[in-house]
Amino acid sequence: MPENIFATRGKEHSIFKDERFLYPEFVPERLPHRDAEIDSLVFALKPVTEKKKPQNSIVLGKSGTGKTVVVKYVLKELEEFSDSARSLYLNCFEFNTRHGILTEISNFLGEPTPRRGIATDEAYTRLLNALKRAAFTPIIVLDEVDQLMYGNEASKLFYDLLRVVEHEKARFGLVLISNDFSLSARLDSRVKSSLGQQSILFEPYSPQQLKDILRERAQYAFNANAIDAEAINVAAGHAAKLGGDARIAIECLLRAGRLAEKENASKLMPEHLKRVFAEVDAAGLRKYLDELSEHEKQLLLLIPSNSSINSGELFKQYKKSLRNPLTERSFRSMLSRLESLSLINAPFTAKGVRGRTRKVSLIVPKEALLRELGKAK
Ligand SMILES: Nc1ncnc2c1ncn2[C@@H]1O[C@H](COP(=O)(O)OP(=O)(O)O)[C@@H](O)[C@H]1O
Ligand SMILES: [Mg+2]
Repeated sequence: MPENIFATRGKEHSIFKDERFLYPEFVPERLPHRDAEIDSLVFALKPVTEKKKPQNSIVLGKSGTGKTVVVKYVLKELEEFSDSARSLYLNCFEFNTRHGILTEISNFLGEPTPRRGIATDEAYTRLLNALKRAAFTPIIVLDEVDQLMYGNEASKLFYDLLRVVEHEKARFGLVLISNDFSLSARLDSRVKSSLGQQSILFEPYSPQQLKDILRERAQYAFNANAIDAEAINVAAGHAAKLGGDARIAIECLLRAGRLAEKENASKLMPEHLKRVFAEVDAAGLRKYLDELSEHEKQLLLLIPSNSSINSGELFKQYKKSLRNPLTERSFRSMLSRLESLSLINAPFTAKGVRGRTRKVSLIVPKEALLRELGKAK
């Protein structure tokens, strides 16, 4: 019998040692350039190891700045270090209702709570009872929490969590993660002082920092000498241009490595990277655009391709272009959101009454935008 093709073919490829080190969900042992952010989280959570109440944190930063990976890493270390802590990670894309989140937390605390068939207040009561009995301190992570912020649900949920946190006997830690910087401002002050005792800001990575991160990951993912030194620089440069997003940089390396393997190249070269950029950028762009409302998409399309526009002027055009335009306030929050998704740059200018004027320009190429939104001619 001939040998199985999976055993015989593909042997000659020698680019990857183990490509799993480049997967988005992989949590590495070392996270260059995030020491200060890690320290802040450790400081907030350390009391748990002494059976005391932890501090709650809000983690803010644009996408690809390492928020999710840093939080997961710190919680992994905490659970290894101390039996008294256990963490639950919930992504609000998936768990996007107050009811869903409360029942998920109750279940985690060992109180079997069906997702359906019980009232939300009942789910809350069960959560609180379970918490009083729990032999460990739960640390709950709500990632992408901006997904919740657009509904009424969110404020009710935050109010529930506030009551949990402020409950005298209950030890309970909360980490909220958001791409949207305006999250902090949108929380009511009591919620903020209790649920966000500290805010940790994640700045975009510089080209040099991206290089360090990629080098670290590449060392485990690729065989020795299978990646050209210049390739790392090219990937880092590309991601830096797109807003310092490490996810893009790593994704490019993975795809370029696969391309190089498929073509039986002996080394991953800058040329392989350049060939995957368009594909990676389009995939990333699509993911962001899927999150936008129709208003946000329309606004995005009004921004010129190769120059900037003043926010005042943009608002005028925006009002003209729509039959039912939104208020200036929601216009401003849309700008912040587009900025937090790294679709636009919008720095405040020194000029302008009350310093409200922003200089708005596109980060993503307009052609790609038109193509993805189906507006290309
Ligand atoms: N300092 C770092 N060191 C190593 N890998 C990093 C670092 N920061 C981010 N990454 C990687 O970049 C990708 C994006 O990070 P992620 O935590 O998902 O960003 P965010 O949650 O801010 O959008 C992930 O694959 C992550 O492992
Ligand atoms: Mg994340």
